[in-house]
Amino acid sequence: MKILAINGSPNVNSVNGTLLDVAAKQLGDAAVVDRVNLATLGAPLYSTDIEKATGAPEPIRALAARIEAADAVIIGSPEHNGLPTATLKNAIDWLSRVEPGKKWLEKPLVLLSTSPGAGGGATQLGTLAGLAPWWGADLVASVSIGSFFDAVDADERVLTKSEDVDRLSAALASLIERSNARLAS
Ligand SMILES: Cc1cc2nc3c(=O)[nH]c(=O)nc-3n(C[C@H](O)[C@H](O)[C@H](O)COP(=O)(O)O)c2cc1C
Repeated sequence: MKILAINGSPNVNSVNGTLLDVAAKQLGDAAVVDRVNLATLGAPLYSTDIEKATGAPEPIRALAARIEAADAVIIGSPEHNGLPTATLKNAIDWLSRVEPGKKWLEKPLVLLSTSPGAGGGATQLGTLAGLAPWWGADLVASVSIGSFFDAVDADERVLTKSEDVDRLSAALASLIERSNARLAS
């Protein structure tokens, strides 16, 4: 099972990146996790002018190919002013314009979010989850983890609260189950 874990943060040093590490650790041998950090992808801000002149940029075409090669996708991304980050939105806009990226969210998808505050980015997670079916996504679960610095042992890459471990485990187990069903069909 190959899972592509996409960090939608604009920051290389990212608590959502740490949360993706936690998820990869919880997955253990159940999956090989390929990682993408959109902060370093090198994609310009989406523009029809750029698209008409040169088509989708190479980093976006490469990302679309990595999504195509994956059996499932996890997006871990922070909230900015109640919304998904501009970084993630930009990638979604570009990917909606290229094949096979256009079909990227048809892969089984888990959405994750964390923040230092208690909200854990749940507002933007709700926005993404609400839109995912419109993109044709096979959204399996979404999990937000509030109060990152209490909820995550960043050194060990583990969640500190058993209820959070259970929520993330359930989401990841559903992702594996849905991906296996898709592969078998
Ligand atoms: C412009 C800006 C807006 C933010 N808005 C929110 C917000 O609406 N909700 C929230 O929980 N955190 C908010 N934060 C705090 C972020 O959760 C935090 O800075 C961060 O992006 C954590 O994710 P990262 O380390 O993975 O980048 C905001 C931060 C910035 C810089």
